[in-house]
Amino acid sequence: MLTRDVDPVLAFDRALAGAPVRLVRDDGVEVDLAVRRWRRTACGEDRWLLDRCTGPTIDLGCGPGRLVTALAARGVPALGVDVSAVAQRQCRRRRAPMLRRDLFRPLPGEGTWQHVLLADGNIGIGGDPQRLLQRAARLVRPGGTLLVEADPASHLLWRGTAQVGSSAPLPWACAGADALRHLAAALGMSAVDGYRGQRSFVQFAASAHGSVAVPAAGCGP
Ligand SMILES: C[S@@+](CC[C@H](N)C(=O)[O-])C[C@H]1O[C@@H](n2cnc3c(N)ncnc32)[C@H](O)[C@@H]1O
Repeated sequence: MLTRDVDPVLAFDRALAGAPVRLVRDDGVEVDLAVRRWRRTACGEDRWLLDRCTGPTIDLGCGPGRLVTALAARGVPALGVDVSAVAQRQCRRRRAPMLRRDLFRPLPGEGTWQHVLLADGNIGIGGDPQRLLQRAARLVRPGGTLLVEADPASHLLWRGTAQVGSSAPLPWACAGADALRHLAAALGMSAVDGYRGQRSFVQFAASAHGSVAVPAAGCGP
């Protein structure tokens, strides 16, 4: 009989530890997790993200810390944030600066980071990409940017729950570059750069501390 993780926070642990697990959305779509990429040294298309991190960078959902490690090697101050104890151990092994915390909780240096990284589909964390963009924008200083990995399907915006392997369902989302541009525009953020290859990335210039209010649905006059 299959046992289920009790806590969705543990959902990624087996994947981070190297098990080949899939993310299964509640609409039936199955997504292969790029576990091998997470666990190896940053390379290939990761460079697009790394090259744009020109100052202090916070990597939300850093996993084993490959991007933080690569930035530190370039002399860029970087901090990884992840809820997973497995990720924490992996970051320690790599000597990657990392804080084990939910990214929606207060983080060090709020409003002072130059860049926020949301790589590897992490824009899905929490199941509401617009809320996560707004959260990320609050972390950066004026002139700072968000570097977000988008779904290859540029217009896709899917929100729901997903299971990672046999985990309990957790709120999750997938968003393509055009969908993200639209969500970001409503927050006063504009795309300043983008990349489309095997992976897809968008860089957003954050508005002043992401303070734009998101209108509540159904609250018309
Ligand atoms: C899709 S994986 C990305 C892996 C990672 N970017 C890497 O390089 O290995 C999602 C990561 O986000 C973490 N995570 C999920 N929810 C989180 C939250 N609320 N706060 C912080 N980290 C979270 C998971 O533990 C997992 O390591």
